[in-house]
Amino acid sequence: MRTTIRDIMQMKKRGQSIPMLTSYDYTSAKLVEAAGVPIILVGDSLGQVVLGYGSTIPVTLDEMLHHTKAVVRGTSRALVVTDLPFMTYHLDDKQALHSAGRCLQEGGAQAVKLEGGAVMAPTARRLTQNGIPVMGHLGLTPQSVNQLGGYRVQGKSRDEADRLMSDAVALEEAGAFCLVLELVVEPVARAITERLTIPTIGIGAGPSCDGQVQVLHDMLGLYTDFVPKHAKLYADLAGVIRSAVEQYVHEVQEHEFPTAKESFGMEPAGR
Ligand code: KIV
Repeated sequence: MRTTIRDIMQMKKRGQSIPMLTSYDYTSAKLVEAAGVPIILVGDSLGQVVLGYGSTIPVTLDEMLHHTKAVVRGTSRALVVTDLPFMTYHLDDKQALHSAGRCLQEGGAQAVKLEGGAVMAPTARRLTQNGIPVMGHLGLTPQSVNQLGGYRVQGKSRDEADRLMSDAVALEEAGAFCLVLELVVEPVARAITERLTIPTIGIGAGPSCDGQVQVLHDMLGLYTDFVPKHAKLYADLAGVIRSAVEQYVHEVQEHEFPTAKESFGMEPAGR
């Protein structure tokens, strides 16, 4: 039985902090779930850390579905949430329902995430009314990087703080079950977390949120193009992979691999 959105909402009520991580493929999803993560985000950050795009803007719905299916195949207990990519839910309700519906029906996800505040509340309402759980995403919303003028911390001014609060309330009222707060100053993230009954999941939003999310490739030290300030490196997988591959190259060049142990002989000759 998979974790449900109700379980996630109950975790806030019980004061139980919610660990969320991204995952984009079968193998890592299996490992992440086995380590006890109850909620996995197939984030459109896969655009950068898996596909090598410069931002999340070029990510398509088909790419999200491809990766979502792999994550769903690798898990049986985690709640899987898929990001709706840029311009797949902005045109109208019909487009949003179609895109989100595909994430659940074809991808096998249990919920979708969309970026934006009050302006997206009617979309969130329409999706939830049609049985599609919605996770909101406020603060630094990477799909709006061009409008925001870069990956800047949000909520520093009174106006920004007030807007974030009213956006958060609008999404909760629209039926969102959870809210990601990305790069939001700590006092504002704390105020939103205290005000809402649904859980907030922070990334670069301080310790007061009801849960935390990290990009798997950041926390494992696997993506080295850019390391965000909010990321804590729990491992240096880039270093581990590099030295393992260097050793492999060396052993092949020196005829040290394969040995008899990794080779196959013939069956003994019959009579
Ligand atoms: O795409 C993503 O990985 C995200 C997280 C950073 C929350 O949206």
